[in-house]
Amino acid sequence: MDKANAQKEIAKLRTEIERHNRLYYLEAKPEISDFEFDKMLERLIALEKEFPELLTPDSPSQRVGGEVTREFPAVVHREPMLSLSNTYSVAEVTEFCARVEKLVEAEGGGTPEYVAELKFDGVAISLLYRDGLFVRGSTRGDGRQGDEITPNLRTIPTIPLRLDLPDLPLFGADLSGEIEVRGEVYMRKDDFERLNEERPEEERFANPRNATAGTLKLQDSAEVARRRMSFVAYYLKGHAGESRTHMERLRQLEGMGFVTGGNYRRCKEMTEIATFIDEWAEKRWALPYETDGVVLKLNDVTLWDRLGATAKSPRWAIAYKYPAQQAKTVLQGVTFQVGRLGTITPVAELKPVKLAGSTVSRSTLHNFDEIERLGVRVGDYVMIEKSGEVIPKVISVVLAERLETTDAIEVPELCPECGTKLERPEGEVSWYCPNEEGCSAQRRGRILHFASRNALDIQNLGESLVAQLVERGLASDAGDLYRLTLEQLAGLDRMAAKSAQNVLDALEKSKTRGYDRLLFALGIRHVGAATARELAHACPSIDRLRDTSEEELAAVPDIGPVIAESIRDFFAKPWVAAMLEKLAEAGLPMQAGAAKALVNNNFEGQSVIFTGTLERHVRQQAEEMVRERGGRIVSSVSKKTTIVVAGSEAGSKLEKAMKLGVKVIDEDEFERML
Ligand code: IVH
Repeated sequence: MDKANAQKEIAKLRTEIERHNRLYYLEAKPEISDFEFDKMLERLIALEKEFPELLTPDSPSQRVGGEVTREFPAVVHREPMLSLSNTYSVAEVTEFCARVEKLVEAEGGGTPEYVAELKFDGVAISLLYRDGLFVRGSTRGDGRQGDEITPNLRTIPTIPLRLDLPDLPLFGADLSGEIEVRGEVYMRKDDFERLNEERPEEERFANPRNATAGTLKLQDSAEVARRRMSFVAYYLKGHAGESRTHMERLRQLEGMGFVTGGNYRRCKEMTEIATFIDEWAEKRWALPYETDGVVLKLNDVTLWDRLGATAKSPRWAIAYKYPAQQAKTVLQGVTFQVGRLGTITPVAELKPVKLAGSTVSRSTLHNFDEIERLGVRVGDYVMIEKSGEVIPKVISVVLAERLETTDAIEVPELCPECGTKLERPEGEVSWYCPNEEGCSAQRRGRILHFASRNALDIQNLGESLVAQLVERGLASDAGDLYRLTLEQLAGLDRMAAKSAQNVLDALEKSKTRGYDRLLFALGIRHVGAATARELAHACPSIDRLRDTSEEELAAVPDIGPVIAESIRDFFAKPWVAAMLEKLAEAGLPMQAGAAKALVNNNFEGQSVIFTGTLERHVRQQAEEMVRERGGRIVSSVSKKTTIVVAGSEAGSKLEKAMKLGVKVIDEDEFERML
């Protein structure tokens, strides 16, 4: 293809991709499948690779991440990022309004109006646009200075890379200069659950806010992109065309391409504000994201500066926080769940009670240390809470109401599922059922994990079906699934011929998911989806993985001695070997897809790092060029680094390279090496 045609196709693809992005994320009305979307994106990336000179920073290809940052540079905010004063009482909101009215009056204004909006439970972020282009994004930090995390923020689909300015009549005059937008990065509840599902149990996040904060700190922006975060804007500053009321600014933000959530309302009186607060107390549970209160802002923005701020928060806004959602109920009993790794988890069986938009009748007690910490007994009145957390938990015992008839909760001696004597490994809080191979609960758990969404995503293989398969001896591990026949399946309870065929089809489809997904699906202890991807990269076949020593494994990025040992243990088990044989026989991908052919070997054996700004290449692209020529990209300079490619304004990495005597080359030399 010649350049002119490439340019046309690239432009078309970019417009289409951004349009589908909007349909998906803003309007929740996707027109094409994820697969078709990925194909378009792949095509765009391929074209940009062929014609690097056509790559621009606002291309949707820049959202897939790939840049690895070692340290986040500090940014001093143009104006401090204040926080809000909080209250849990509506009476204090009334006092706030009275205070504002007095201040406004003293400034010679009339009766003030307010905007009530939702308080999003995420992480505050500031975005800087220059000439309409997203150039820098940072965290709040201590309010005066934060961390620059632009590569991570670029991956968030609801952060526009270029603003839709021309559509705004008010923005005709001055398109240059800087615009600052502030808002909240958050994780949707469904994205949060998906993320947790693919993590080993001990690494799960407690709530979407923690997951968001943890993700924004990641140094690998490709991982950030995979985790899918969202952004909602609530503040606009620094433009000649900006309007004089907060209400209009929210509309302007929407016009530029931001999401505001849309759930804000102009209020003239306290009664309207109280209504808004009441309304959302319940309605908020139906939102796809978490909110923890209502923010009230003075609508007239010209008064903001005049009212000013205290040391920490502005005088023109206040946050009303909903009380944590608590309920009192009775602990009717404790049951014990056996996980796929044999862990025994005590589960509180509660008298059903309404809490935060749903009825709660069970809640995890985590482990026996937690039971001891709570001092809880069966028959006790307990308080349960849902605050930020998606899953409710028992937070305390109402001791004053304890009856004489309560019973202590004993650690069971035997596995409730298979009767094997339980064990507690030294130094661990959990008890385990050691009957790994024969325990039905562990068998079921392993098969369900194998079939789960982030693993091989075998639809139609739900809990009751798996329970029947294990109980009737039709499947004891995932390998057996692929030997099931239509007759066997159709003979199960609640299974018509049609659904039996659906299961077989789903099993067939699961063979196409790829080697890294299979590695995750195997359910090796401590190996989550991200670690599985690393492993797949380092050991591109099961045979290789099985033959890699513990020391070699421990040297793979992100895999320490604990994970290495767990992998070794896993492959040493006879039942694992038998299962792998069945999986191979069924045609599951026991190795990575055919590796891409190398362009040449010019970088073979080299460990390369880029620093500073390159003039003719986007960083990601240059790194890929090294990989295509047999080289490795490393993320920090060490004695093992063999080449440092330094662009302009190279900083600490260059210094370190010089100190260590690593070879440093410039962009011209890099191109010659290609
Ligand atoms: S306005 C100067 N609006 O709450 C005030 N903040 O407790 C700027 N937050 O740091 C903030 N939703 O992280 C504002 N609709 C909203 C908000 C909101 C959530 C967060 C924000 C802020 C914190 C203050």
